[in-house]
Amino acid sequence: MEEEARIARALRAEHRLLRRLMVRMADWIASGVPSSALRERARMLFEALDDHARFEEEALFVPMRRRWPAARHILEMMEIVHEEVRDVFRRALEAPDPREDLWTLLQLSEEHFRVEEETVFPLAENESADESPSPGI
Ligand SMILES: [Fe+2]
Ligand SMILES: [Fe+2]
Repeated sequence: MEEEARIARALRAEHRLLRRLMVRMADWIASGVPSSALRERARMLFEALDDHARFEEEALFVPMRRRWPAARHILEMMEIVHEEVRDVFRRALEAPDPREDLWTLLQLSEEHFRVEEETVFPLAENESADESPSPGI
């Protein structure tokens, strides 16, 4: 359906914006910003990442599961990573020095974006363009 393709494209665009924030965060971590300031900035980055992840789950993964039951496993993997990012962020807030957890958060997010862009979004984009009649859909 066109709608899923449209949402996948919007999510790709969000990845581009989020990557810019992630690059900035990486610079801050490397440049010796004090831990308390890093945590504050990380909170803003996390809000943006988590808004994105929630929208993805509700607006894309829910309809994708309905339309393509075979995608269930990969979507579940994506949701597990969303949860992992939340856990790493909570750890970063509690750690005396949040740097290591923030690096993990950035690496995890970058890798996750790549998998979504290469595996999940193309499914929504391509299969929806190909409106082959399937019984039950
Ligand atoms: Fe995601
Ligand atoms: Fe995403």
